[in-house]
Amino acid sequence: MNKFYSYGKQTIEQDDIDAVVEVLKGDWLTQGPYVKKFENDLSEKFNAKHVSAVSNGTAALHLIGLALGWTKGDIVITTPITFLASANTILYSGATPDFVDIDEETYTLDVIKLEEKLLLYRKYGKQLKAVVAVDFAGQPSDWEKIKKLANKYNFQLINDNCHALGAEIDGNTGYATQYADAVAMSFHPVKHITTGEGGAVLTNNSELDKKIKMLRTHGMTKDEMLLRQNDGPWYYEMQELGFNYRITDFQSALGSSQLSKLDSFVERRNEIASYYKLQFDSDDRFIIPKVKPNTKHAYHLYPLQIKFDNLKISKIEFFEKMKEKNIRLQVHYIPVHLQPYYKDNFGFKEGDYPIAENFYKQEISIPMYPALEDDDLEYIVKTIKELAV
Ligand SMILES: Cc1ncc(COP(=O)(O)O)c(C=O)c1O
Repeated sequence: MNKFYSYGKQTIEQDDIDAVVEVLKGDWLTQGPYVKKFENDLSEKFNAKHVSAVSNGTAALHLIGLALGWTKGDIVITTPITFLASANTILYSGATPDFVDIDEETYTLDVIKLEEKLLLYRKYGKQLKAVVAVDFAGQPSDWEKIKKLANKYNFQLINDNCHALGAEIDGNTGYATQYADAVAMSFHPVKHITTGEGGAVLTNNSELDKKIKMLRTHGMTKDEMLLRQNDGPWYYEMQELGFNYRITDFQSALGSSQLSKLDSFVERRNEIASYYKLQFDSDDRFIIPKVKPNTKHAYHLYPLQIKFDNLKISKIEFFEKMKEKNIRLQVHYIPVHLQPYYKDNFGFKEGDYPIAENFYKQEISIPMYPALEDDDLEYIVKTIKELAV
């Protein structure tokens, strides 16, 4: 069998290719109308008042922190079970990262532990600046409760929504900007829709949006309302220290084309998840991801836990044997606080976040992408069950 499987993979069809080629033949490769169109499409799809498309999800998070005014001395909390970018972008602004453990069932930030931490901060006279909650694997965090805490303890709220395009709370795909001050998305090829590299910031706050738009292009503006003086039609001003975090027009055309298929992609991901549930749920070697009531999971990932402690095979052997069978797994994630950089610079250590650490011991991400056919799924499940002994 030559076919091989990975944990995630893009779906690019002829109409996606045609959309890109059309832009390549035109006048605008970047800073043209397709960026604006992609932003409008995202705005409509996710019911967000303002959208800034940017060069990747990390840039989106970086800009959010800067626009929200994070600086040295500020404390920003995220989850240890996330990609490095959620925490690294806290550091980019000079703020100090801290973590709160995950909930055992949903693998998202544990809201009870978050409040315990807030009470501890209060006791020691510390103020929390912001929380970056990650809708891990496609499961929305407990936004209603997090929002209540944000109001009670006065901190900013960011949704790292990179895994959760198409997820819902109470049937609402636009939940992210409803709860968070700003939302970050990524369009990396393993995500729900892709632009190669790419990302976006979504917000309902117009002041924040203006700052993000300025910061993504060198802190420059040509907006007459914002200029301090005006030397003529060529005139621009740099008012902040910004970056080149722009996305191109041909990427944006791909993004719009992909976005029109998001619903069908998420439906297929949910069908795959239903099949996996049927196969693994009743087998006590495995723990499947739970879906919180009133939410729709977007299944960017399918994090399967295997109780390796009860099996003869180790996680390493399992990983290698699966690879021999052409199934390339991944692990999401090595808890961020255990990375040498975070241990060395902030004193985090093993045992700090036990639920996350135990999850890491057992988690593997099995193939989850729309192009998987039913016979692919049968092969994947059969192989996992044969090897997990
Ligand atoms: C949770 C999370 N946040 C942020 C990012 C960063 O996105 P990008 O790779 O587009 O920079 C990723 C990407 O993997 C992610 O998974």
